[in-house]
Amino acid sequence: MKANSDGVISVIGAGYVGLASSVVFAGAGYKVYLVDIDKHKIKLIKKGEAPFYETGIQDLIKRGLDKGNLIPTDSYAEAISNSHIVFSCVGTPDSPDGSTNLQYVFDAANEALKYMQNGTLYAQKSTVSVGTGVKIASLFAKSGKHVEYISNPEFLREGTALRDTLWFDRIVVGNGSRKAIGHIFELYGQVEKWRQDIASSAGIVPPDNAPVGEYIIATNVKSAELTKLAANSFLALKISFANSIAKLADKAGADINEVMAAVGSDPRIGRDFLNAGRGYGGGCFPKDVSGLIASALEHGVDMDIMEAVQDVNASMPGYIMEKLQNYFQGNLKGRKMAILGLSFKAGTSDTRRSPGITLANLLVAADADVRVYDPEAMVEAAPQLHQKVQPQSSLSAAIKDAAAILVATDWPDFIHREVSDYRQQTQPPTLLVDCMNRFDILSVKRAGLEYMGIGRGDF
Ligand code: UGA
Repeated sequence: MKANSDGVISVIGAGYVGLASSVVFAGAGYKVYLVDIDKHKIKLIKKGEAPFYETGIQDLIKRGLDKGNLIPTDSYAEAISNSHIVFSCVGTPDSPDGSTNLQYVFDAANEALKYMQNGTLYAQKSTVSVGTGVKIASLFAKSGKHVEYISNPEFLREGTALRDTLWFDRIVVGNGSRKAIGHIFELYGQVEKWRQDIASSAGIVPPDNAPVGEYIIATNVKSAELTKLAANSFLALKISFANSIAKLADKAGADINEVMAAVGSDPRIGRDFLNAGRGYGGGCFPKDVSGLIASALEHGVDMDIMEAVQDVNASMPGYIMEKLQNYFQGNLKGRKMAILGLSFKAGTSDTRRSPGITLANLLVAADADVRVYDPEAMVEAAPQLHQKVQPQSSLSAAIKDAAAILVATDWPDFIHREVSDYRQQTQPPTLLVDCMNRFDILSVKRAGLEYMGIGRGDF
């Protein structure tokens, strides 16, 4: 499938996964229809603007539009009837009971089915509960059309969405016929071929250790679906494990960063995702952990281990509050507290389940005087902040005369700036609360600030 009449792709859903995939496929020479029912989003993308902040995405939208390869549209009819591969990348939020809400997934499949031609390949990138693909495939079969359904879960991270899409470490294909796997292989082969070029036009720096063993893993559809949920759940488990050990390290006087560096140096364990701190947030881990628990329950399987992961994660903002209450001897009333970082991680404006927001609201509940700042997420955070939280337009305004500065997101500007800068804009004693354990304790103390980490044996 090259950039000819056979090389036309539709991507349904202009979220992180859909937008990143479509601009990369367009960059690799494919004609890509990006379909979303949100007319406002499509209008923005057509103008060359990204609907959210993600490194390099705006450049690649412009590149795709300029070359005529990227066609944003709200019309399924226009897009799908012309495409040989259709990727479903719609949202799968969690329902109030924790299970995965598959409404958009089925809506997209039903709508696409109206326009798919015989021979179309329908690839599911959205994270779905195990068993979903079989239901969609039987829906397609009942229609009498020859449409092949595969599961092709996505493993990109927000903040590095483009880099992860360009330098993928594995492609999982569930239920693919030889022909389908061939199409997917060729598509990602083109991405590999063009990735340097695409990356440099978007200012994307290749990863330090670019994956070497790139390969396609062919599984059955249920295995592919479960792989995605299990992978995210395992990463969440690593984080909650590190946070549990961090609580012990605080009591025992050990430093969690030292402990996890040593523990993670065992290649059987690995250092990644063992960073203790305020816990995980975002649109993936929280919902995928609860989705796995709900899915297991449907099959009569108890996922106690993942319930513990959830509990530990939920406890982390409260744990930080407890540490603050101890430090300020139970008196937070009227104290100026600055929260730096409202996105759930650096490199994104996404504020879903963001620990920085939870901390801001908890501090307001404790009657503190709370100011917040984030370089990209102020607009997205606003509706979730308690009305007494005071949003600021700069870091300086947020930290001015603060009794404590809580660094809740590891934006480079927060963690790489001279610590003396924090000191100069406040009156001693000022407490730096390192909610992601990214600062060097000695440097903070030398600059004249007090230090509080999560599991660093200080308080
Ligand atoms: C996660 C997975 O890492 C991706 O592989 C997956 O494709 C994606 O979910 C998805 O399902 O779409 P993402 O949520 O974008 O990606 O971000 P992560 O980098 O995984 O971080 C998640 C949260 O964990 C963040 O709040 C981060 O600050 C926190 N975290 C991460 C820790 O607290 N400690 C760590 O050691 C690592």
